[in-house]
Amino acid sequence: MVGGRTEDRKVLRVLSGDAISPPPAWMMRQAGRYLPEYRETRAQAGSFLDLCYNPAFATEVTLQPIRRFGFEASILFSDILVVPHALGQDVWFVEGEGPRLDALTGPVEFNRLREADDPAIFSHLAPVFEAVSSIRAALPHETTLLGFCGAPWTVASYMIGGRGTPDLAPARALAASQPALVEALIDRLVQVQTEYLVRQFEAGADAVQIFESHAGVLPEGNDSLSRWSLQPIARIVEGVRKRVPDAKIIVFCRGSGVDGHLRVVPETGASAVGVDWSVDLSTLRKRLPATTVTQGNLHPETLIEGGAALDAEVDAILEATRGLPHIFNLGHGITPQTPIAHVEQMLARLRRG
Ligand code: CP3
Repeated sequence: MVGGRTEDRKVLRVLSGDAISPPPAWMMRQAGRYLPEYRETRAQAGSFLDLCYNPAFATEVTLQPIRRFGFEASILFSDILVVPHALGQDVWFVEGEGPRLDALTGPVEFNRLREADDPAIFSHLAPVFEAVSSIRAALPHETTLLGFCGAPWTVASYMIGGRGTPDLAPARALAASQPALVEALIDRLVQVQTEYLVRQFEAGADAVQIFESHAGVLPEGNDSLSRWSLQPIARIVEGVRKRVPDAKIIVFCRGSGVDGHLRVVPETGASAVGVDWSVDLSTLRKRLPATTVTQGNLHPETLIEGGAALDAEVDAILEATRGLPHIFNLGHGITPQTPIAHVEQMLARLRRG
């Protein structure tokens, strides 16, 4: 590494097991519409996907929250849905509504997807790797750079549903009627996401996060969390570590409850468990081994509310994790209506320790 030691990167140190007080912080979706400078760059770029695939713009928006707030980690600006796009599925974003995909409803669409070892997948994603390198070069030395991907179940649910659906009915129905097809899709995603994360590490990422945003809505069946979510994630973790020994990997399994959160590290081999806002962090910490690294979990709505409620929730997170390896974060992404002053308040309170 050029110009310093990775030990200066606090988020990376916590991921190796150090307890740091006050804990280092970053926010999911920290580059986003609550920032006027993001809205400006986004308007210049044109569409959301143009922003994702333009390394110069992606670098600029990734750096914006670091400049403004000095977060200890920066997360690559992109989206989990660039991977289905690279597999050959149509993906677009509808202003004010969210992502749309040309839905995968059966074997016909599945057979049109690129095979996992098709080099066209990774030439499509080349601008992402270029962005990672350019972000690493521009970041302050002590800032940890996180790459990411979506977990297979979450990405598959968008590929099948063609959009975000609250109960993932299309994905669950297909898993019930054609389980072998959904398993083949998950397998394809395991292979592609493994290679995708390895290449992000090679381009300069210090650590990565796997987003399982829909662990709360899985197909019916005995231990469906394991089958559709934790096992595929475990295969990615194992595959990445074969190529990047000791790779630091955070797994965020939103909606999996206290019991699900307890299983993430033992069953996937993750370096840390990302905790969603619905879980009581103090209860979880008491049931986890002291060596387990946690991340989270301020409620994004408390950040909108601000005031005494915000101070109290920051204090409660500090209390629940004192002396333990923890990375401060939200329990899900920051929303566009969040006042910037509240982010400043949160960090001021946190940094008092
Ligand atoms: O955390 C970060 O700042 C890194 C960048 C990032 C984005 N999306 C940027 C984004 C990451 C890690 C994601 C992950 C992602 N994308 C997930 C998993 C995490 C989660 O939030 O549950 C999911 C499910 C998606 C798919 C997706 N992308 C949705 C559902 C939406 C629409 C929601 C919305 O806020 O409009 C997006 C769009 C998106 N991805 C935006 C950003 C900043 C907003 C787009 C805009 O600028 O208009």
